[in-house]
Amino acid sequence: MKSIGARLALWYASAATVTLACLFVAGYYLLEGYLIHGLDLLNQSEFAQIRAHLGPDYRDLSPAVINQRIRETTNFASVLFYIDIRTRGHGTIFYSNNLHGRSLPDLRGKSRYLIRLPDVGLLRVGEFPLPPYEVILATSETQVDGVMEGYSEVCVALLVLMLGMSTAIGFGLSRVALRPVRLIRETASRIGSDNLSERIPVPAVQDEIADLAQLLNAMFERLEDSFRNVRRFAADASHELKTPLSLARLHAEKLLANGTLSADNEEEILTLLEDLSRLNGTIDELLFLSRAEARSITLQLAPHDPATVLASFNADAEVLAEHRGLVFSFTHEGTGRAICEPRWLRRVLLNLLSNAVNASPPGGRIELRSVIDREFWRMSIEDEGPGVPETERAHIFDRFVRLRSASGPDHEGTGLGLAICRGIIDLHRGRIHVESGHGGRGLRVVFEIPAADPSYTGA
Ligand SMILES: Nc1ncnc2c1ncn2[C@@H]1O[C@H](COP(=O)(O)OP(=O)(O)OP(=O)(O)O)[C@@H](O)[C@H]1O
Ligand SMILES: [Mg+2]
Repeated sequence: MKSIGARLALWYASAATVTLACLFVAGYYLLEGYLIHGLDLLNQSEFAQIRAHLGPDYRDLSPAVINQRIRETTNFASVLFYIDIRTRGHGTIFYSNNLHGRSLPDLRGKSRYLIRLPDVGLLRVGEFPLPPYEVILATSETQVDGVMEGYSEVCVALLVLMLGMSTAIGFGLSRVALRPVRLIRETASRIGSDNLSERIPVPAVQDEIADLAQLLNAMFERLEDSFRNVRRFAADASHELKTPLSLARLHAEKLLANGTLSADNEEEILTLLEDLSRLNGTIDELLFLSRAEARSITLQLAPHDPATVLASFNADAEVLAEHRGLVFSFTHEGTGRAICEPRWLRRVLLNLLSNAVNASPPGGRIELRSVIDREFWRMSIEDEGPGVPETERAHIFDRFVRLRSASGPDHEGTGLGLAICRGIIDLHRGRIHVESGHGGRGLRVVFEIPAADPSYTGA
């Protein structure tokens, strides 16, 4: 069973039901003993009555008189009592009628006992000395059996009820008791590398759960510190690299400007300058990613009309695609405005277009679809290239991930393009993912950002 709540409820229900069952069993024996003791008292009071009726001079009475006196006393109680009076040596001198001539068995050494008589059933017997006689009185135990049977039935019904009720109460209690644990789970599952500052609410009562919440919070504190240090390191390292890189570029440009280099050397310096500029670009991108992850970039977010945002990009995309022998098409549906900063969105679109262009086969088609509704502005760029295997799709937004199969031989990317796209879309509070293109061919990159509330009239 996976849920602790369910387990606690069942343990609680089992413990409560077993405890009640034990009490019922103890109650059974106590009640039975009490009822049998009641039968003994009945026998005893009947004996007292017989003795009183025989009178103090009973020793001098003839057996016939004794028989008559006892019969006078006991006739009316013949339903309740079985009576057998005997003398040592002479045997029984009196049987009650309900014994039909049979004597009550005498168990040696016992004065109170249970016996079973054929046709009569279970009897509680008491032996009382009345020298020179011995009076043996018995009462039927059937009533006690009936009561005990009823008791057992009531107990079983109560146990079933107890099991049902305690399971329901157990579930209720476990839900209440585990509420702080659920709260911890919900908060902990929300905490990720992008919102490490969130903390688990610590319950007011200082118990084990509060300790656990504090422990987890302390762990998140340490994690946040480590993440901050890693990001700061990436940002600092990128920043520190920029100055020597600029100096190297200045020196190279100076060498070129001097005009004293041979044609070969000049060629080498030009290649060096190209590499330096690519390195500079990579450092800029890393710096951007570090700052985006640390949320230290503030976008100028405002409502914009998608058609206007896309107009200049579409013109550039058409030219770029045509230059590479590809066909670019564009559709837009819906009206409304989206919350964005257009220059950053343009950067996302250019990155995605460059990937699509690199992946497309000659003459391939690249399609940009844009739809805006009340909630989101959704865009997708689809190409007819080799696509990305499903197992790789989760990773291609990570830094420096390049899949050899997809990149054309003339394309040497750094693997930062999609990471930057995701950074920018995150800053717009949007989402981005990839899926297969139309008919399972190519790749479709889909992203969406929130649309503006139609009642918003600000800039
Ligand atoms: N449209 C696509 N079709 C097939 N594979 C793609 C597509 N877009 C991206 N990929 C794969 O995902 C990898 C990562 O893309 P990303 O844009 O992050 O890096 P890049 O294009 O290699 O380098 P950069 O964009 O930094 O110049 C690419 O190397 C490529 O293998
Ligand atoms: Mg790219």
